Amino acid sequence: MIKINENYQKLQASYLFTTISRKVEAYAKAHPDKKIIRLGIGDVTLPLSRTVVEAFHRGVDEMARAETFKGYGPEQGYAFLREAIAAHDFQARGAQIGAHEIFVSDGSKCDTGNFQELFAQDLRIGIPDPVYPVYVDTNVMAGRTGSAVDGRYEGLTYLEGNHANGFVPSPPDFPLDLVYLCFPNNPTGAVATRAQLQAWVDWALKHKALILFDAAYSAFVRDPAIPLSIFELEGARKCAVEFRSFSKTAGFTGTRCAYTVIPDSVLAWDEAGNSHKLLDLWNRRHSTKFNGVSYPVQVAAASIYTAEGKKEVQELTDYYMANAKLIRDKMSSLGLEVTGGQNGPYVWVKAGKDSWETFDTILEKAQVVVTPGSGFGTCGQGYIRISAFNHREKVLEALARLETALR
Ligand code: MLT
Repeated sequence: MIKINENYQKLQASYLFTTISRKVEAYAKAHPDKKIIRLGIGDVTLPLSRTVVEAFHRGVDEMARAETFKGYGPEQGYAFLREAIAAHDFQARGAQIGAHEIFVSDGSKCDTGNFQELFAQDLRIGIPDPVYPVYVDTNVMAGRTGSAVDGRYEGLTYLEGNHANGFVPSPPDFPLDLVYLCFPNNPTGAVATRAQLQAWVDWALKHKALILFDAAYSAFVRDPAIPLSIFELEGARKCAVEFRSFSKTAGFTGTRCAYTVIPDSVLAWDEAGNSHKLLDLWNRRHSTKFNGVSYPVQVAAASIYTAEGKKEVQELTDYYMANAKLIRDKMSSLGLEVTGGQNGPYVWVKAGKDSWETFDTILEKAQVVVTPGSGFGTCGQGYIRISAFNHREKVLEALARLETALR
């Protein structure tokens, strides 16, 4: 008899964004005359930029000629892309990351979800609350938690983010083995200062802990004092792994390309106390379970590091950040507590008592889709997340409708 992994029984029936899209579909079916505006899931709406499209075409043309055709590529990514990433995203900012420490993949969701496979079952795990649900769910699937009680899994340590700490939890005064951090944050849009991140790095070094740092939204940081990478901090090469994505940076949500950075100095230990390089373990996993990102996609991704490509990425991200400012300003003008939207594409708003109720009210009254804050953890209860990813005219229309609905 085939048996299931019973850890799946501990999960919510469906993934947050799947639940939302089912609700929205049902509403749309019942109200075919209503025009719904989606500021829920963070999915880009602007097309790929000119430089990226031209590079993509070049990659496809190469695949169409016998002399330049490519079969399987290196699982870790082509050297031209890994070298461009290392030079532009890290070395140019003083972070000593080499091309051999970069693993190109098809998404940060997959990488942040899969990375826990490298570790023992009995880890002490620290999870911020609110947080991107993938970190929690994948550890539940792997059997590292008990059941959910009042929205929290037994066995996880929740690091609370709230208005008082600006949604940037501080390191605890006790040890943990693995901590997930995400800055600019999804869902709150909050960013961590250099001092706040340094405190986390120092804490991790002290406890031989590992930080999994999700920096998928780093291209949206506008404050020059905010670090874009954890590797800009002293000591991080010994205790952190970083996840980055082309999805939001360059409009690749449908194209798929991301990367994970594992310094060759990050170690983890076995039961006998022997150390192992995480880079080697991930390399083993990646080359066994992944066959690489397609060549044309990697050519397209590398083009964002050209002078033109950089300019276009700046324009794309500026466009969404202008939306974020409009959302932030409107919500503030309604007298609501607002976080984010200044260095990240999400605006986190305190609205109502129950997030799902507010979600339903907004959908009913304004036909606008937002994300209920409680879907990101118990500390998100009473909040909604508004995404800046949509066309300007839709954002403006949504804000006018929200003003009426939320007043
Ligand atoms: C979100 O809306 O939180 C993101 O789009 C989810 C993701 O990138 O997987």
